[in-house]
Amino acid sequence: MDLYEHQARDLFREHGIVVPRAEVTDSPKEAREIARRTGGRVVVKAQVKTGGRGKAGGVALASDPAAAELAARRILGMDIKGHTVRKVMLAEPVDIENEYYVSYVLDRAAGRFLAIASAEGGMEIEEVAASRPEAVARVHIDPAEGVTSAKAAEIADAAGLPAQTVDVLVRLWQVLVREDALLVEVNPLVRTPKGQIVALDGKVTLDDNARFRQARWGAEEVEHDDPLEAVAAARGLNYVKLDGEVGIIGNGAGLVMSTLDVVAGCGARPANFLDIGGGASAQVMADGLSVILSDPAVKSVFVNVFGGITACDAVADGIVQALDTVRLTKPLVVRLDGNNAARGRAILDDHAHPLVQQATTMDGAADRAAQLADSV
Ligand SMILES: Nc1ncnc2c1ncn2[C@@H]1O[C@H](COP(=O)(O)OP(=O)(O)OP(=O)(O)O)[C@@H](O)[C@H]1O
Ligand SMILES: [Mg+2]
Repeated sequence: MDLYEHQARDLFREHGIVVPRAEVTDSPKEAREIARRTGGRVVVKAQVKTGGRGKAGGVALASDPAAAELAARRILGMDIKGHTVRKVMLAEPVDIENEYYVSYVLDRAAGRFLAIASAEGGMEIEEVAASRPEAVARVHIDPAEGVTSAKAAEIADAAGLPAQTVDVLVRLWQVLVREDALLVEVNPLVRTPKGQIVALDGKVTLDDNARFRQARWGAEEVEHDDPLEAVAAARGLNYVKLDGEVGIIGNGAGLVMSTLDVVAGCGARPANFLDIGGGASAQVMADGLSVILSDPAVKSVFVNVFGGITACDAVADGIVQALDTVRLTKPLVVRLDGNNAARGRAILDDHAHPLVQQATTMDGAADRAAQLADSV
């Protein structure tokens, strides 16, 4: 998940990095009021999760409260690379002597983090990187060692940044580690005429796999491209919407991935990825089924379960109970194998729901689900 600039700014400040005073609003009138309260001059900045805001006209210096209102009115609602501006941040203007670029990013191929830094930061950093790559320093970071003062000094030295940036480089690394980020970027990090180092912009990408221990980011901060994914996330399901017509439920990410492959191998297209994990309670099954059935593209559903610690009879009980709360509107093909498979199949046979069919093999079940999707 990407954060907005104002959220990144808050994190930076909490970790002791100097940032401009700033407030966020969605109203031009309030922008005027904030400017009036904070001394008149403000930088009005579009809050969108994409880069190049300045070049798109989404960053403006307003010299008085009336100009702040006008700028906010112009910027709010603006489209920047497909992102609509819904909020602006009003930041205190900072005198700039130099603009630097610094970032830490996960370098998966190297199995390390990478510090990227340049003494020529600012809005033209992409051009600098393309035309004069030697002006951009790249220093690998051992994740176990992190950015110590010595490492920070090495980065600053490689990029030609002044010694005062060393402290910020260490703190920025602490943001990355403590907030579970995969990327932190400051462009520009500036030096003022008085020699103070200030972060004037911030981009932070959080590691979604660490959300469970980052309680401050609630569901409302997560923006899903797909409304069904939002519903599934709110119910704690591991669901990803895909383009096909065969709904998929399985236990275990590996099994679900191979289920997608087998369905595709039968000439059908999976409608989703959904891993209900171990346990497979009736509630999880019901939640999963109701999300999948509310996808209008779904024509049939394939439940593929390999019983392990959670045995197939428990999963079958879960399916039967789920069918009490969810109205099945599309055919369901169930394949139960592994621990207590025979007992699980007997439970579904006894329940004898007209839209539920069973298959004994994964291939057979996929084939059946594909045929059913094709015939509707
Ligand atoms: N608080 C501020 N005071 C003075 N100048 C600022 C301030 N905030 C931004 N600027 C100036 O505006 C320029 C653009 O701002 P910023 O970096 O936030 O936007 P951007 O780089 O265009 O956006 P993005 O990083 O999303 O591409 C900065 O390089 C800096 O020169
Ligand atoms: Mg920037």
